[in-house]
Amino acid sequence: MTRTLEEIWPPYGLVVESGDLRMTALREADVPEVLDVVAGGIHDPSWTPFLFPWTDAPAEEMPANYMRFFASTLTRTVDGGVSLELVVRRNGRVVGMQGVNGPDVTATRRLETGSWLGLPFQGQGLGTRMRRMVCALAFDGLGLDAVTSSVWEDNAASRRVSEKVGYTETGRGRAERRGMPTGEVFFELRPEDFDRGPDRVHITGADALRRFLALDAA
Ligand SMILES: CC(C)(COP(=O)(O)OP(=O)(O)OC[C@H]1O[C@@H](n2cnc3c(N)ncnc32)[C@H](O)[C@@H]1OP(=O)(O)O)[C@@H](O)C(=O)NCCC(=O)NCCS
Repeated sequence: MTRTLEEIWPPYGLVVESGDLRMTALREADVPEVLDVVAGGIHDPSWTPFLFPWTDAPAEEMPANYMRFFASTLTRTVDGGVSLELVVRRNGRVVGMQGVNGPDVTATRRLETGSWLGLPFQGQGLGTRMRRMVCALAFDGLGLDAVTSSVWEDNAASRRVSEKVGYTETGRGRAERRGMPTGEVFFELRPEDFDRGPDRVHITGADALRRFLALDAA
């Protein structure tokens, strides 16, 4: 019998829901809608919140760049590593993305998260809810030990989200941003410190994903 795409690629079977928010793994068919939100802006162009400044590319290069990035999430999910880009929809409409990366998650049992929302959707508590959803996925769904976040020191909104969700600052560093040395702050969250907030999170498809990533055997 012909297999479904979800059987072939278990990340596609994952659904994380909380209230009016729903997250599913990015598929090729989602890319046009995601690009509409990117085109509407994610941050003031005088600044970049991203460690890899992907939004600095010329607008005409963005669509193909984003397709390559989508493909890279598939190729990086191999040999104990995972790269998931979760499309975040509110009432069915794309509002942003929640990324989850771990080059060796099977061995380290830790994931790094990164996220963005389109400008019209920022400052309404959605970023905090998304972060809580992905931490619930990591701890309850995948049984991991820690979630981390790295942020430029001047990214007040992201830092505040980390604080609200219960992360602890674990260190500081410096890296180049648009040619300038810039401070970075590193955060980590352990399950026992997780501030879950008021909303319930429902996760479907985590068992198959855990098996796919060999997390049960570790
Ligand atoms: C970071 C991001 C995902 C957060 O999502 P959001 O929906 O805007 O965040 P929330 O509304 O849930 O919470 C933001 C918190 O930061 C606070 N905040 C925002 N800007 C701030 C500023 N300049 N100074 C101090 N606090 C600030 C808000 O007051 C809020 O805290 P509160 O609930 O205690 O009032 C979103 O702002 C975004 O997409 N930014 C651009 C991309 C980005 O920075 N990604 C992260 C890269 S590491």
